[in-house]
Amino acid sequence: RTVYVNGSYLPEDQATVSVFDRGFLMADGVYEVTSVLDGKLVDFDGHTKRLHRSLEALDMQAPCSDDDLIAMHRELIRLNGIDQGMIYLQVTRGNPGDRSFVFPDESVKPTIVAFTQDIPNLADAPAAKTGFRVISVPDIRWGRRDIKTVQLLYPSMAKMMAKKAGVDDSWMVEDGVVTEGTSNNAYIIKGNRIITRQLSNDILHGITRTAVLRFAAEAQFEVEERPFTVDEVKQADEAFATAATIFVMPVVEIDGAAIGTGKPGPVATRLRELYIDEMR
Ligand code: PDD
Repeated sequence: RTVYVNGSYLPEDQATVSVFDRGFLMADGVYEVTSVLDGKLVDFDGHTKRLHRSLEALDMQAPCSDDDLIAMHRELIRLNGIDQGMIYLQVTRGNPGDRSFVFPDESVKPTIVAFTQDIPNLADAPAAKTGFRVISVPDIRWGRRDIKTVQLLYPSMAKMMAKKAGVDDSWMVEDGVVTEGTSNNAYIIKGNRIITRQLSNDILHGITRTAVLRFAAEAQFEVEERPFTVDEVKQADEAFATAATIFVMPVVEIDGAAIGTGKPGPVATRLRELYIDEMR
């Protein structure tokens, strides 16, 4: 694979960053994951806007212009011949040359790294035909989940809890209501109504979420933005999750209880098709 680091395209085994990089020492960095469908970036504009929002929230410099950012993403797709997959982009506060809790001054430039990952069958994922099974776990993350930081230790632990339980993912719960999945936004469906938590500092403002809610409204579904409980998930007709790498993924079981028929339902399946058709 050819990867990108600070302006250079290099074979992955030749790309390096400093041991003093604040991303490495302090998780002082932000990221974006953009999917690639038929060799094209999906909703890159949305990802660029959210990247700026994350950078600003952390008082971090932008690493390059937006034109350079998109050109770099396209070059990585070309160099690696990606048809279906994703691009991971990470920007950290760079290498101050020492460890310190104080942010370095502006002369320390951000570190920018990006690489591709092939995801064969991204649009035609076998998992979408059976759906995800999830467990509920406590949400013990920090209070600024709207910033897409590389601080992913708890989401990784929650994914491992799911793995140990023999299921696909964990939905995190705080104050009795679902926040989101380990790396996706969470929804339930009751009749013609799609229910998902409103945007706040408590969840990531998913780029896929924005698009899916727009397509859902255009297709005459009702959209209600409010938190829901695990009991409501169990009583729902259907449930699903959204993220760049899974698009719309039906969720068919929570804590061992089947949701609806226990199979991907018509609404989640329709939303998945709508999303993929619109983004193609
Ligand atoms: N995760 N919530 C969380 C906690 C996430 O990490 C993600 C994305 C989402 C969905 O956001 P989007 O629709 O913009 O992808 C929601 C990415 C895919 C990841 O970490 O791999």
